[in-house]
Amino acid sequence: MNSQSELTLAGVVCPPHNVGGDLKMEKNPSEIDSQPSSVSSFDDIRWFHRIDLGDGKITPGIDDTAAKLERIRLPDDLAGRSVLDVGSWDGFFAFECERRGAQRVCAVDSYCWGEDGWADKSGFDYAKRKLGSKVEERYCEVVDLDPESLGVYDLTLFLGVLYHLEDPIKALRQISAVTRDHLILETKVDLLECRRPAWSYYGGSELNRDPTNWWAPNPPALCAALASVGFRRIEVVSGPKPFWQRLMRRPTRERSWWREFQCCRMAVHAWKS
Ligand SMILES: C[S@@+](CC[C@H](N)C(=O)[O-])C[C@H]1O[C@@H](n2cnc3c(N)ncnc32)[C@H](O)[C@@H]1O
Repeated sequence: MNSQSELTLAGVVCPPHNVGGDLKMEKNPSEIDSQPSSVSSFDDIRWFHRIDLGDGKITPGIDDTAAKLERIRLPDDLAGRSVLDVGSWDGFFAFECERRGAQRVCAVDSYCWGEDGWADKSGFDYAKRKLGSKVEERYCEVVDLDPESLGVYDLTLFLGVLYHLEDPIKALRQISAVTRDHLILETKVDLLECRRPAWSYYGGSELNRDPTNWWAPNPPALCAALASVGFRRIEVVSGPKPFWQRLMRRPTRERSWWREFQCCRMAVHAWKS
């Protein structure tokens, strides 16, 4: 660690956020059309989503995608609607919206479609090819989402991305700019015992040992942030878990029982109309 960049607060040495910081997202933020990846063998792909490819194979993702699909309450019928899936990764939710009749679907990602991510875009490309999907794709940072070049969508999915962003309010403003009416947002929430709007800051890797995590709101802060960027109606569709369920949590090596108790996942629908 570069000792010149350490901060000392009341005798406590705090490493700057970006220590070993090449793990943080430093991709060139310029928006480019994404290119198909070169890896195409099913077994070589580091899958995140579990996608039914329709040929008897389900991709072996580490994510419990079916459970997430249930939690976010995606409308059954998306006929005639346009959908933007921000942070699409292997694309399960984009493909699912297409399957539910959406007229136009665009998948956007940066980190995991670039060279520095945990995986790459080969899962998306493989599944898209196998499914015969027409989902559009763009490599773009959330903070660079631009309605002029990307368009405005009836429904935006913003699932599991908010806490990865260094500037979540700016990101929500850009999400609002590309959303005509309806947003489905899924995120980690923290500080559940605090009644005032608050954001938990992760200075290092303490959230899931992942240095790409920066901030998680508590529910009042999430609702206030969504209202401040133009969403007038907000409905919580899942989580946070009741306190008695969180009471049973076990501490981890990185996080005390109290910190575990205060964390959960939550999904909301928000509308401008
Ligand atoms: C935890 S995964 C969630 C994937 C998917 N949305 C889901 O919920 O299953 C986070 C995704 O957000 C993407 N991501 C993280 N930071 C981003 C950023 N600044 N701009 C665009 N995408 C980002 C990552 O590349 C990754 O695909």
